Amino acid sequence: MSGEYKAVYNSWKEDPQAFWAKAAEDIDWYKTWDKVLDDSEAPIYRWFQGATVNTCYNALDRHVENGRADQLALVYDSPVTNTIKKFTYRELRDEVAKFAGVLASQGLQKGDRVIIYMPMVPEAAIAMLACARLGAIHSVVFGGFAAKELATRINDAKPKMIISASCGIEITRVIKYKPLLDEAINLSDPDAQPETCIILQRPQEQASMIEGRDLDWQELMANAQPVDPVPVAATDPLYILYTSGTTGVPKGVVRDNGGHLVAMSWSMKNVYGVQPGEVYWAASDVGWVVGHSYIVYGPLINGNTSILYEGKPIGTPDPGAFWRVISEHNVSVLFTAPTAFRAIKREDPNGEHVKKYDLSNFRTLFLAGERCDPDTLFWAQDQLGVPVIDHWWQTETGWAICGNPVGIELLPVKPGSATVPMPGYDVQILDEGGHPLDIGEIGSIVVKLPLPPGNLPTLWQNDEGFKNSYLSAFPGYYTTADAGYIDEDGYVWIMSRTDDIINVAGHRLSTGGMEEVLASHPDVAECAVIGVADELKGEIPLGMVVLKAGVNRDENEIIKELIQMVREKIGPVASFKVATTVDRLPKTRSGKILRGTMKRIADGIEYKMPATIDDPVILDEITEKLQGLGYPHQGK
Ligand code: COA
Ligand code: AMP
Repeated sequence: MSGEYKAVYNSWKEDPQAFWAKAAEDIDWYKTWDKVLDDSEAPIYRWFQGATVNTCYNALDRHVENGRADQLALVYDSPVTNTIKKFTYRELRDEVAKFAGVLASQGLQKGDRVIIYMPMVPEAAIAMLACARLGAIHSVVFGGFAAKELATRINDAKPKMIISASCGIEITRVIKYKPLLDEAINLSDPDAQPETCIILQRPQEQASMIEGRDLDWQELMANAQPVDPVPVAATDPLYILYTSGTTGVPKGVVRDNGGHLVAMSWSMKNVYGVQPGEVYWAASDVGWVVGHSYIVYGPLINGNTSILYEGKPIGTPDPGAFWRVISEHNVSVLFTAPTAFRAIKREDPNGEHVKKYDLSNFRTLFLAGERCDPDTLFWAQDQLGVPVIDHWWQTETGWAICGNPVGIELLPVKPGSATVPMPGYDVQILDEGGHPLDIGEIGSIVVKLPLPPGNLPTLWQNDEGFKNSYLSAFPGYYTTADAGYIDEDGYVWIMSRTDDIINVAGHRLSTGGMEEVLASHPDVAECAVIGVADELKGEIPLGMVVLKAGVNRDENEIIKELIQMVREKIGPVASFKVATTVDRLPKTRSGKILRGTMKRIADGIEYKMPATIDDPVILDEITEKLQGLGYPHQGK
């Protein structure tokens, strides 16, 4: 280590406000702040209080004005529709300004909420940026969620408008979005329903429109007039992004304008080491935080060319898909989830497809969303011959808590570790009583308040929920709900979640939410869902249900119904495909279901008999059931 990271980290620690004020010089403000950090309502903090700014202006207009007008801003690459479409900064600014004109002509104003339920098409990014241009607050909902999940988000956000498309395209099927949207609106509370829906008709599917409510994207754009960016307070919300919590009700993570702009700009240069003008690709989805931060906002704010990829790592058409995109568009940096690499490795273990492409401009691979297992990391390193960086963050933080800041200094990679805390984050490990733990001891990973710019200031219209969920366990600290340890070199190792969230193919899901669905089946008395290790997806959910006394239907039929229910109520993205009936669930004497112990049994990891277990024999019954399902898998 040459010490540059340490120097930068220490300079932040010595004077956090001066550090972020300096970083904020990269942003074009209408008016600068009165206070860098407003702590008057601590533990709720606000960054750049008193400043006014516009995120869309910083992502587009200023680059057009400052010499990047003809540089590519966005490249839409869609192997599933055989399309490549490129937008220069000028073209993207013009499209966004016109679509903002459409929104304004529909009466949309600063502070109004807009739900965006769209597949990976450029119009999704255009819709997000158009909202930002007007100061309207967007909330993008991932396409793989079912109507009921969308309805929950409609109820919370109360959108004035929903922007959607006729369909999304998966490898094996066209997903009709419009019937899901109509169903979600019907399921939602009457006072939360939108006045207007704008629908992008795609050639693959013509959606039927509801007279008086639904409007056609293309028709509206044909007559649209561009509008200018609207100055908003730095502390005004830019977007709400719902993420899984411990119950079926998702949390509305709020992102502000000013802090987010500064964090995006700083992280592009320092965390990812990307200079303006370079091509950056986050192979994720606009429905996730990675898509918000690093498909849309980060690269554009930093003056990069961003790739918006509507395809998969495999099957579109083969495991060389990523290498084709990298070479065709001259990508310097790729960010994706380890699961994508596990999928590629499984189909092309010897990297035959890698050899077919010129990857000479490719510099760094970043992985996040789940822990990167060392096997995958080594394979990627060997095949690509570039540094492979695991970094750790959450929807709540919006950017990396820990990483290897290649823009400052490439630190030695320790496979399995997310490397070191980024400036802004004072990461500590606490025991249950809130006492700091020693080097190497596993405990709750927390971040000392205040959180840095770009992190959530609160939950949407729910300050109390924010405090209860994140700040109450350890006063003065933000609880990440991840457990892990810090080693003697200051490297942070993320080991597991401390709640019932699981990560399925990099997608964050609540087992509590799935349990709520299972429990609503008329034959189910009680249930538990655990995340079990999966070679491809990292983890997959496994359901165990106890049937009500007297139910004597075919158990296989009930299991099929349960699987279908989760698909319909949460969505295909839950990948809920394995469930079994059990006679009883193991519990503590106080009635708490021992999910952790069941998970260890399923994963073939040794476990200690919990001291408080009510009836140890139940664990033998569970072990037998899991064995019947093939758990633990061989070799685990
Ligand atoms: N709209 C509708 N359905 C969707 C969807 C979307 N946007 N995205 C996924 N789905 C569906 C899939 O078709 C699949 O349905 P199925 O059960 O009928 O097969 C289901 O949701 C599960 O999808 P997924 O978890 O993506 O698994 P997969 O088997 O289709 O593909 C991978 C596996 C590894 C190739 C895939 O997960 C992948 O590309 N992951 C990349 C990681 C990533 O993007 N992570 C995001 C955070 S960085
Ligand atoms: P999400 O909010 O969907 O980004 O999910 C955040 C959660 O994913 C974190 O709290 C972790 O549990 C997990 N996660 C994300 N990145 C990593 C990583 N690099 N290593 C380990 N876990 C990770």
